[in-house]
Amino acid sequence: MSEKEFIIRKPDDWHLHLRDGEMLASVIQHSAANFERAIIMPNLVPPVVTTDDAIAYKDRINQVIPPGMSFQPLMTLYLTEATKTSDIKQGVDLGVVTALKLYPAGATTNSENGVKEFGNVYSILEFMAEVDIPLLIHGEVTDPEIDIFDREAVFIERVLDPLRKRIPELRIVMEHITTKDAVDYVIQGGPNIAATVTTHHLIINRNAYLAGGIRPHYYCLPVAKRETHRMALRSAVCSGNEKFFLGTDSAPHLDGAKENACGCAGIYTSVNTLSCLAHVFEDENALDKLEGFVSVHGPSFYKQK
Ligand code: DOR
Ligand code: ZN
Repeated sequence: MSEKEFIIRKPDDWHLHLRDGEMLASVIQHSAANFERAIIMPNLVPPVVTTDDAIAYKDRINQVIPPGMSFQPLMTLYLTEATKTSDIKQGVDLGVVTALKLYPAGATTNSENGVKEFGNVYSILEFMAEVDIPLLIHGEVTDPEIDIFDREAVFIERVLDPLRKRIPELRIVMEHITTKDAVDYVIQGGPNIAATVTTHHLIINRNAYLAGGIRPHYYCLPVAKRETHRMALRSAVCSGNEKFFLGTDSAPHLDGAKENACGCAGIYTSVNTLSCLAHVFEDENALDKLEGFVSVHGPSFYKQK
């Protein structure tokens, strides 16, 4: 096999879990080696809900970046029904807060403090639209009557679409999309909606964790869906459409928490994400679209240089 050299601008990761303490100190090197910036998820225990929390967490991250590596953590606040618009304003004015993250309460890891009644946060979202700060959404309903494989599609219909009709100026990133429904919704949705796509959802479908034995290291949320959805994600990112950009959702858990009768959701991918993505884009004859996906479309939606 002939060797190929491929040079791209240093990528950014628009959705990353770094955790805290010892875990943070051990995973940071993998993101810092490969990425210039990353949007840091706020679902710590307790979550990052105020600008003061974000300042303190950012300091803890900066302290463990290995010497000589350049890496900028872009901080997010965890939206709750008690979030104060004055606090958001302070975070934005100080240049500390880049976005807010909406977790429907109970949708995923450490989301208990998330939003229960979407109507209760509409005024906060209107304020965010005014100051032009993006809302990042974990787009799954938590209604136990809705099948887990349908939760993303139902979220679009029940929550996202009404929200966007009411506040069309709000810039929204639908995080880690997993379905053709989400791809189609984002494509037809005008300039204020974009989506992150993870590396793993481009590579695995639901057979990966269910067929031939349960493989907990492929379990994440939203769960990987059937093959037709994976194909839709691959064509969206390989088409070069700038509404789609990389958010790895790299989410480390200790082995004991994954290999468990009730294992945690999350796939740790920051170690080898870029080489895996190069395979995906090469398989699709779209290597020329890789740089857009990992280095260009994200900064453009976030209005960052
Ligand atoms: O698989 C996931 N893991 N999905 C999420 O939404 C959260 C994440 C985590 O924090 O472990
Ligand atoms: Zn995540």
